Amino acid sequence: MHLLRTKTIQRDLAADTGLKRDLTAFNLTMLGIGAIIGAGIFVLTGISAATQAGPAVVLSFVISGVACTCAALAYAELASSVGGCGSAYGYGYALLGEFPAWIIDWLLIAEYCVAIAAVSAGWSGYFNNALQALGLGLPEVLMHSPLDATTPGLINLPAASIIVVLGILLAGGAKISARFNEIMVLVKLAAIGLFIAVALFHVNPETWTPFIPPVERLPDGAAGFNFEMRLMDWIKQALGFDAEATRFGLAGVVSGAAIVFFAYIGFDAVSTAAEETRNPKRDLPIGILGSLVICTLLYIVVSGLLTGIVNYRELNVPSPVAHALLQIGQKWAAGMISVGAIAGLTTVMLVLYYAITRIFFAIARDGLLPQFFAAISDKTRSPVRCIVLIGIVMTLMGGFIPLGQLAELCNISTLAAFAVVCAGVVILRRTQPDLPRAFTTPFSPLIPLTGIGFCLWLMLALPILTWLAFGIWLLIGITIYFAYSYSNSALARRS
Ligand code: ALA
Repeated sequence: MHLLRTKTIQRDLAADTGLKRDLTAFNLTMLGIGAIIGAGIFVLTGISAATQAGPAVVLSFVISGVACTCAALAYAELASSVGGCGSAYGYGYALLGEFPAWIIDWLLIAEYCVAIAAVSAGWSGYFNNALQALGLGLPEVLMHSPLDATTPGLINLPAASIIVVLGILLAGGAKISARFNEIMVLVKLAAIGLFIAVALFHVNPETWTPFIPPVERLPDGAAGFNFEMRLMDWIKQALGFDAEATRFGLAGVVSGAAIVFFAYIGFDAVSTAAEETRNPKRDLPIGILGSLVICTLLYIVVSGLLTGIVNYRELNVPSPVAHALLQIGQKWAAGMISVGAIAGLTTVMLVLYYAITRIFFAIARDGLLPQFFAAISDKTRSPVRCIVLIGIVMTLMGGFIPLGQLAELCNISTLAAFAVVCAGVVILRRTQPDLPRAFTTPFSPLIPLTGIGFCLWLMLALPILTWLAFGIWLLIGITIYFAYSYSNSALARRS
């Protein structure tokens, strides 16, 4: 039963925990938008439209948006009642017990680290394009990691360097990072506004038909087992049904949703600012829900317009938004979009890097990771050792390991974490009905259960290879727990 030992819920969510309480609801909403809008909309929308859903990628965004809205409502409730900078890990520790909490933090570590590494690879490409436009492009050996299967190089220098720069910024404290984030968020919102304004005048409704293109078999077909197959198809096949292993059709819309889910990741990062927020009970729900609502609306409009100005088949390129503008002859606007994308990818990395340091800090404070990392700098009152450690790991990952393809590991881990957070609301309503809740999820348990259902549905729509990576990741986490965390936990030492 030690595995299920729980922490008590801290009643005063605004108590001083050592971190500096400086952030407001506006800062949090901007942090959320900073973390959300990035590679998902600037890169994955085109790939999903071209290879999975066609113009119905807009429906893929709606499906993922429903899953995220349910999860965001659950996050808002738990952040305003249980609180703590550990986010879902902290809620799990108070509600479910230490071992489930450890599994959740392991999911969050995959979510944030893989997302940062994947986004840093995209950032590197966009940045070098900009350098090339100025005649200063980097040689290929400095653009690829030695492990890159297609074009091995020495190091992905821009990817490694941007992490170092962001680490220095974060070490300066949450407020200065939030300021920088706000400026960059305005740049990316301006770029998206520009795209919408230009695209509105070039819509050709014919490109929306067929809205859901007919089913096409993947080149490998469904015959036999292949790692690219979706788990949903594999289960159907195992049960003797004609498995689709397709793109397009309704199944394509759902697998498209499981891919563009990446675009929504980040609103949950707002909850890690709980101990640096002036009025967490009020401001956290505003930040989490406000940023998600704004981004969901933008995504639906942008994905609808993108497939309305060029044929979806042309969008399977690394920068589909800029590409579409070039196709309709708007060269200057395409250039502006690239600037917006660089700003967007920068803020995603910054906020996710911020979030993972706070989660790591919370875990170390609880003794499940070395408590050495739970120190706070006297000067900036930020967890500077966590920032340095994670910066080193992320720099090595960004520079030397090609992790871009693992973005789906990030999706599966996040979906699992969201499902647990939704379950947390249902459990807490039963176990602690009288706990003060500044925000309550409406229609509980319907909304949290819908959230769990949508998250599991999207997980099933991910490829088997992703499930395999997910299983290996969990096994590593479980091993670390029993080798270190179980006996070093602060709760274990107290009892
Ligand atoms: N939502 C973030 C992005 O799309 C991770 O880049």
